[in-house]
Amino acid sequence: MTIQIDELRGFISDMYSDVARFPRAQFHFATGRSLMEGLGYAPEQLDQVPQTALESCAGVGHHFALTRLPQGARVLDVGSGAGSDVFVAALQVGAEGEAVGVDMTGAMLDKARKNAESFALDNVSFVEGYAEALPFEDGRFDWVISNGVINLSPNKPKAFSEIHRVLTPGGRLLFSDLVTGVELPESVRDNCELWAECIGGAEQEQAYIGLIQQAGFDVQRVVHNDYAFIQESTINAAKKFQVRSVSVLAVRT
Ligand SMILES: C[S@@+](CC[C@H](N)C(=O)[O-])C[C@H]1O[C@@H](n2cnc3c(N)ncnc32)[C@H](O)[C@@H]1O
Repeated sequence: MTIQIDELRGFISDMYSDVARFPRAQFHFATGRSLMEGLGYAPEQLDQVPQTALESCAGVGHHFALTRLPQGARVLDVGSGAGSDVFVAALQVGAEGEAVGVDMTGAMLDKARKNAESFALDNVSFVEGYAEALPFEDGRFDWVISNGVINLSPNKPKAFSEIHRVLTPGGRLLFSDLVTGVELPESVRDNCELWAECIGGAEQEQAYIGLIQQAGFDVQRVVHNDYAFIQESTINAAKKFQVRSVSVLAVRT
């Protein structure tokens, strides 16, 4: 990959600032409550989450279907966006637990914090930071979740090793992301726009699972989700490179 990390982060941040500020705009990927219901989130659960969080959701899977978070757990959502999954996690862990979101995009953080003001529980918080340099002490969390984010990271081994570091031994990683069936050509990997649209940075599925294992996780479950892009050029690229959504449950060894 020859693209500059600062340039790439600028593209990603601009794209997701737009998702935060203009949730009704057309993006290459689906957004909002209808996306979440299509992925499998229960409407009754979504009713308890601030609707202004749901409108800017840009997730790619419903990892909560694999297992429920235990009451009292401390949870970190990496790349939390406007906060949808943080609020879902907060409801599952209850008032004795806590749900923290970390994101690099200021507009998403601003929106998530505003959303938290109308949420029923006060066990949520949002922190600015990068997946590759998580601003938390070792062993701070029992669970890490994430949705549609690690594919955007220019340094996935570092992101997974940071997730491993902030988890307590035996902690769990439960997340969804996009992967490919084939190796992407250089021309796609070096295209910041395709990267920000969640295609250019997607890793081949087997190699991706290998990265999670190399970071010190026992990968227990991998399931494929129904996920589709919505604009023709991206649909075609996704088809060509067999881009698909996976949900993963892994245990920190
Ligand atoms: C596809 S959106 C998903 C947001 C949220 N997880 C959801 O389900 O709606 C990707 C989010 O990850 C954030 N992000 C991307 N790369 C990141 C990184 N390296 N570190 C921290 N946040 C990142 C973006 O700012 C954006 O809010």
